[in-house]
Amino acid sequence: EANHRESLMIVSGFAAKFFQDSMWETDEGQSIGLSYFKERGFTPETIRKFELGYSPDQWEAFTSAAIKEGYQAQFLEETGLSVKRDNGSMYDRYRGRVMFPIHGFTGRVIAFGGRTLKSDKSVPKYVNSPESEIYHKSSVLYGLYFAKKAIRDEDNCYLVEGYADVLSVHQAGIENVVASSGTSLTVEQIRLIGRFTKNVTILYDGDAAGIKASLRGLDMILEEGLNVKVVSFPDGHDPDSYVRNVGTNAFKTYIDQNKKDFILYKTGILLKEAGNDPIRKAGVIREIVESIAKIPDSIKASVFVKECSHIMQIDERALLSELNKMRLTKA
Ligand code: GTP
Ligand code: MN
Ligand code: MN
Ligand code: MN
Ligand code: MN
Repeated sequence: EANHRESLMIVSGFAAKFFQDSMWETDEGQSIGLSYFKERGFTPETIRKFELGYSPDQWEAFTSAAIKEGYQAQFLEETGLSVKRDNGSMYDRYRGRVMFPIHGFTGRVIAFGGRTLKSDKSVPKYVNSPESEIYHKSSVLYGLYFAKKAIRDEDNCYLVEGYADVLSVHQAGIENVVASSGTSLTVEQIRLIGRFTKNVTILYDGDAAGIKASLRGLDMILEEGLNVKVVSFPDGHDPDSYVRNVGTNAFKTYIDQNKKDFILYKTGILLKEAGNDPIRKAGVIREIVESIAKIPDSIKASVFVKECSHIMQIDERALLSELNKMRLTKA
């Protein structure tokens, strides 16, 4: 109930403060956590704004501090900040990691992502909070609290994969950016965006996983009745690495010049795979029409049919009849 949720948020707020103090006020925090963020190119303003922090590399630094301050073990455990051993004692979930607090709608901290500083592949790169009464992963977008005003003003939302992408893109002056981080994009997340704008631009990583996720994401976004564009990055780059590589101005230019509507994006990807094989080309057309069939607004859909007919050099009526067939089988 409300009291319970409030208790979990108070503990989370305390933790965010603890991780911030551990970073800014201790030698370990400054030399390891703060310098990590600075080396990644994040300015002190960005680091403060997003309340980034550092968890000391000890087993019980946070848990002891929290218990000493009077926080109940139950809430530490439910938020996942502390983990209970079989013998009943508790230890810190986040140890020696840089901390990204996840903010809820009203700006209060509801969860965390903690990034390892080791390049050792045997440790998970990110550790995230478990589900709790205040944190339902599938309906949270990282950065939304800091982005919502800009999303409304710009009437567009940039969607990235990760925490660092949000920070770098935001820092570059593009503040209408959020990440689905950790989970693959959900319908709830898309509806959340839909409360602020009907226009989404996907900026996922330029690798095979990112392309796959973009194709899946654009279909889901279309199905929710929103408009979607995609910008792809050179292989091996994500928005964060790319903006650091080319600088703010070139990054903005890149986005403007490489923004593709979903048909152009999808045909580009699929045609490259299909090569010159006419049967596979026909398959591409069918897949494009499948995406168009997801658009609830039939007038909008017919505009995209026209575009597809143009790009693929194929008769519009053939596409329309294919579209209608798909609509029928779907209904
Ligand atoms: P950096 O290396 O810090 O730039 O991370 P990234 O955001 O580029 O990571 P990546 O592209 O691999 O993953 C995108 C997002 O998925 C991350 O920001 C995390 O939110 C999430 N993620 C990545 N690795 C893990 C993991 O090992 N565990 C969990 N739970 N989430 C992860
Ligand atoms: Mn409750
Ligand atoms: Mn990735
Ligand atoms: Mn990255
Ligand atoms: Mn990435």
